[in-house]
Amino acid sequence: MVLQKKGLKVAASLLALSMAFGSVGFAQTDIGNGKSGYSQDQKVIARVDAARAIEHIRYLSEEIGPRPGGLQAEKESAEYIANVLKSYGYEVEFQYFPVADQYIADVSFADGTSWQMAAAPNGKVSKEDVTGEVIFVDGGTNPADFPAYTAGKIVVMPRASSVAGYRTQVDNAVQSGAAGVILQSLVGSRGNYGQTFNPSLTSAVEIPVYGAAYIQGEWLKEKLAEGPVEINLSAEHFSNLESVNVIATKAPKGNNKNTKEVILGAHHDSVVGAPGGNDNASGVGLMLELARVYKGYNTDKELKFIAFGSEERGLLGARYYVDQLTQEQRDKIEAVFVPDMVATSYGPAKNLYAMTPNGSTNIVTDSTMAAGARLGNSDILPGTFGSSDHVPFHNAGIPAALFIWMGIDSWSPLVYHIEKVYHTPQDTIEDNISPERMQSALDIIGAGLFDVVRKDVPPLNK
Ligand code: BES
Ligand code: ZN
Repeated sequence: MVLQKKGLKVAASLLALSMAFGSVGFAQTDIGNGKSGYSQDQKVIARVDAARAIEHIRYLSEEIGPRPGGLQAEKESAEYIANVLKSYGYEVEFQYFPVADQYIADVSFADGTSWQMAAAPNGKVSKEDVTGEVIFVDGGTNPADFPAYTAGKIVVMPRASSVAGYRTQVDNAVQSGAAGVILQSLVGSRGNYGQTFNPSLTSAVEIPVYGAAYIQGEWLKEKLAEGPVEINLSAEHFSNLESVNVIATKAPKGNNKNTKEVILGAHHDSVVGAPGGNDNASGVGLMLELARVYKGYNTDKELKFIAFGSEERGLLGARYYVDQLTQEQRDKIEAVFVPDMVATSYGPAKNLYAMTPNGSTNIVTDSTMAAGARLGNSDILPGTFGSSDHVPFHNAGIPAALFIWMGIDSWSPLVYHIEKVYHTPQDTIEDNISPERMQSALDIIGAGLFDVVRKDVPPLNK
């Protein structure tokens, strides 16, 4: 009876497999040993659904919007994530930690819409607003660049490349009587369009000085081309901030307790002014969707789902998490999977990389590479990269890897392609999310992680 049931299941999955891929040869040894492999992968990949993950992206990036570390929007994001995890039946806790002050600007329009920018701490930072008509000054390092009617206007300028250069632009605007300055960022740090920034002024300036993303400057120019534009500037200095990690735990199954623990963790904050659709509502969406699917299965090891806060402010949530663990607790952690930017629609970002800070392979890279091979999915490749929440774990000697879509032309020197809209207001579902890439990431990470967590004997490196 049991055997027959098993046979039926295998037959059904073989049928599904041959429909999906047209060939079943590669899966037979896995099915044959009955322990790892295809039927287990099927438990995950038959259920994970990119549309559900993208619904989480929609909530985070559109309902909430930008989620800078330590601010109210990041708390709302934590609340949303916790509620979803609780609705799946998990125990959830919040872990708070202190973060540095934020200087946040709000630029609002007559129609009620508003944009988030970053404010110069040394400029006017006040909720008491400044209203004025926008003028665009192409230049600004020369006093003659400012028209006679500059007084009382809000001056938008493409920012000079150096801090000294844009200080001159600001001083000249003040001399001309400007009511406020918006510096448009032209270039980003990773080949992306410019992102918002806190202009750095070595001495105080009386008027508001904000750092806009490149696209915000372009949008202002477009509006100006249609007629006069009046905007309202206000800013706030937020201090005594706390950021937050959200931690959900899946206990190992009762009679087969393994002492090991596995973590799936994604940052939920974004940079200022960016809705963080791919970076990193996508990683959170993937995590929540895997949490939903795994809830239905017994796993031998403890599994933790963590949404890290303030990654964009220096990997702060992950660092705090690792710092507060005892050595004994660190030793328990067998693997840390970190999805960060797992669904971009940017064409050249054509592979899903499993990255470690030094290029070493570990149980996280190996299990997902193996899952890709079993599934006949060649998107996944190993690689070398830091810059995300896997770094503090790696530095503590805990096997961890980052998952990210990018295109790599060469490794030495490293030439890579990520979406131009990275860290900008355009990191939206519409401009930067691919359901197919999300599904591929769900399948590969879902099957690789499930293989690690469900077995009491680690499948690799043992
Ligand atoms: N998701 C990115 C990391 C990333 C971007 C990795 C592009 C590889 C290619 C992450 O959210 C990020 O932007 N990290 C910061 C880290 C810093 C604040 C320590 C970064 O790289 O600037
Ligand atoms: Zn990120």
